[in-house]
Amino acid sequence: MTATIIDGKIIAADLRARVAAEVARVGREHDLVPGLAVVLVGNDPASEVYVGSKAKQTRAAGMVSFEHRLPADVAEVDLLALVGRLNADPSVHGILVQLPLPKGLDSQKVIAAIDPAKDVDGLNPVNAGRLASGFDALTPCTPLGCIILTKTVRSSLSGLNALIVGRSNLVGRPLVQLLLNENATVTIAHSRTVDLPGLCRQADLVYAAVGRPEMVRGDWIKPGATVIDVGINRLPTADGKTRLVGDVAYEEALKVAGAVTPVPGGVGQMTVACLLVNTLRAACAIRGLPKPAV
Ligand code: GUN
Repeated sequence: MTATIIDGKIIAADLRARVAAEVARVGREHDLVPGLAVVLVGNDPASEVYVGSKAKQTRAAGMVSFEHRLPADVAEVDLLALVGRLNADPSVHGILVQLPLPKGLDSQKVIAAIDPAKDVDGLNPVNAGRLASGFDALTPCTPLGCIILTKTVRSSLSGLNALIVGRSNLVGRPLVQLLLNENATVTIAHSRTVDLPGLCRQADLVYAAVGRPEMVRGDWIKPGATVIDVGINRLPTADGKTRLVGDVAYEEALKVAGAVTPVPGGVGQMTVACLLVNTLRAACAIRGLPKPAV
């Protein structure tokens, strides 16, 4: 038996189309054009690629994209001043500061300076706290994408054992909250966890988000489990190029799991699509409109 491959490309394209339809509607009915500002500090090549694709997809959805590029040696006060101007700009409904920031800049301080109403990354402590307490919140995009992908193969997550490997603020921690909201039983594993393979074998849902290439092996996976691979790791190949692999040994997982996300073409596709969802949501909330239907 071989697992179902969860096609993030198709699912993300469908979500982007629904966002675009709602953007068109709020434009027509309320004269509202959502705007997303992306701030890139320095020139990390991977970040350049992400930021470029965010801008392109924002425009394709009918929203306005504002790009701000600052040198790696920018003074923290100048970065904070830019965030302050974006907070005050009525044409900006979403603000994303691409992470990681270059050395010398305090990312916690920068994230905390973003107006929680415009915090489309859901990383501001106000949004993280609201999510953890069960309040309505702007929610980090990658975990949102993980839940959407899971639900394409599982109609209900209620009572399922979910294992999250990795406890980052960007993925692991918010994913705990989203899975709890779905009534899953959640375990979060990390570098100090004892017997990770044993824990994994009990999980109906596995979320691998550690950034270690192919760490989760096929014989860790419970037969029929849903495996969501959040990892994006670049490995050198024999011919001097690189290839992308996830945190899961994909070929091994295919033989055991019920469903698996590929890398690339899985979770990565969903992150930007969910960013568009959050920008639309933020714009509607700031304008006092009902939640959009996406
Ligand atoms: N770097 C990698 N993923 C993300 C993300 O979702 N948001 C931000 N701000 N930076 C990232």
